[in-house]
Amino acid sequence: MKAMELVGEKWIEIVTCLVISTTLMRSVSGSESECIFPAIFNLGDSNSDTGGLSAAFGQAPPPNGITYFHSPNGRFSDGRLIIDFIAESSGLAYLRAYLDSVASNFTHGANFATAGSTVRPQNTTISQSGYSPISLDVQFVQFSDFKTRSKLVRQQGGVFKELLPKEEYFSQALYTFDIGQNDLTAGYKLNFTTEQVKAYIPDVLGQFSNVIKGVYGEGGRSFWIHNTGPLGCLPYMLDRYPMKPTQMDEFGCAKPFNEVAQYFNRKLKEVVEQLRKELPGAAITYVDVYTVKYTLISHAQKYGFEQGVIACCGHGGKYNFNNTERCGATKRVNGTEIVIANSCKDPSVRIIWDGIHYTEAANKWIFQQIVNGSFSDPPHSLKRACYGKSIRRHKFQLL
Ligand SMILES: *[C@@H]1O[C@H](CO)[C@@H](O)[C@H](O)[C@H]1NC(C)=O
Ligand SMILES: *[C@@H]1O[C@H](CO)[C@@H](O)[C@H](O)[C@H]1NC(C)=O
Ligand SMILES: *[C@@H]1O[C@H](CO)[C@@H](O)[C@H](O)[C@H]1NC(C)=O
Ligand SMILES: *[C@@H]1O[C@H](CO)[C@@H](O)[C@H](O)[C@H]1NC(C)=O
Ligand SMILES: *[C@@H]1O[C@H](CO)[C@@H](O)[C@H](O)[C@H]1NC(C)=O
Ligand SMILES: *[C@@H]1O[C@H](CO)[C@@H](O)[C@H](O)[C@H]1NC(C)=O
Repeated sequence: MKAMELVGEKWIEIVTCLVISTTLMRSVSGSESECIFPAIFNLGDSNSDTGGLSAAFGQAPPPNGITYFHSPNGRFSDGRLIIDFIAESSGLAYLRAYLDSVASNFTHGANFATAGSTVRPQNTTISQSGYSPISLDVQFVQFSDFKTRSKLVRQQGGVFKELLPKEEYFSQALYTFDIGQNDLTAGYKLNFTTEQVKAYIPDVLGQFSNVIKGVYGEGGRSFWIHNTGPLGCLPYMLDRYPMKPTQMDEFGCAKPFNEVAQYFNRKLKEVVEQLRKELPGAAITYVDVYTVKYTLISHAQKYGFEQGVIACCGHGGKYNFNNTERCGATKRVNGTEIVIANSCKDPSVRIIWDGIHYTEAANKWIFQQIVNGSFSDPPHSLKRACYGKSIRRHKFQLL
């Protein structure tokens, strides 16, 4: 009897061991190990604006949206942006702009990005310089207010419960950032030299860092931070600041602007490393979007694209881009309004949409490169961007 009991106990032990180890294995390799992000909160500029600037300052004109939404949809692209693919792959609906008061459902997150946003507040109005007054510090204030008021308003019940995120979503959510490009161009617009632009980058990144800390202070834990893209490959820079042939690379990009973007990115990476030390509870993923975008532009044909740096939607000039007649610009001819800066025939094989932003096809390609963590530091995929913090949560549930 005693022996049987022992055998029985051993057996139970073995079975328990097996159960635990298969559960652990499933947790590590199976779908259960994936982070569960019930919401995404995005802060940034036009690279991830899904309607903020449009809601506040007027809709992006047609042919924006032509490919996917079939009408303007607050995005500066023919279709979806990287943030849309991030939402899709997380099983969430596309993010609505926080500023969009019409028919917005924020249960699964909100987008605070606006086109033309900078990290640092600019000392000019949008009509003077084109930069959005909704700089990153303002986006953080809006986020913080959104969080506070969501909690209060949800308590009222009714429809509000079905429009705003649950309180716990704010700590479980993925926080995505794509901003900095406009801080670089803002200096050039003031006729700063590249050295002068570089000199203020630490201030820009200091303010960026403060916002990450602010979100952490509000309970955010998982961060997904895009670095800035190859500015020197974009027609709006190439057209505005013509370079000497020696300053151009073999793919038609302006080296000084790309060098300043890479300098920004090196410093951003340092800031992220510092943040990891200061915020031990945070999972911060740095995503090298620069390399992906530059690889695409420099090897367009190889990846099934045409015309590296030439805008698809635009009019005239060397790059099919004219700053005074941007994508969607119209002209009155014999009493009728006609679009003079229209879309190219097939945006699905083009990289640059309007001289500043990328096409949906390019955004999708870029997303596919970054989603599996190949360009991330640490090399976690999007589904692991919580660094296993949700995995542990899940494991406890399983055991
Ligand atoms: C705006 O002006 C303030 C006060 O002079 C200055 O501290 C700040 O750096 C300026 N911002 C930018 C983006 O130049
Ligand atoms: C908002 O979206 C969520 C799903 O993300 C859904 O459950 C909810 O019913 C929606 N709210 C309204 C008012 O339609
Ligand atoms: C920058 O230089 C251009 C060309 O010389 C000039 O037209 C413009 O007014 C200058 N901008 C500023 C802000 O000084
Ligand atoms: C850009 O557009 C303006 C205004 O229509 C025009 O005067 C100018 O010649 C155009 N530039 C080029 C390079 O086509
Ligand atoms: C505008 O109308 C005039 C007179 O009817 C005509 O000669 C001209 O070709 C028209 N222009 C365009 C661009 O249709
Ligand atoms: C990530 O995905 C890209 C695009 O599908 C692929 O080329 C690459 O090999 C993948 N990397 C890893 C580490 O799986």
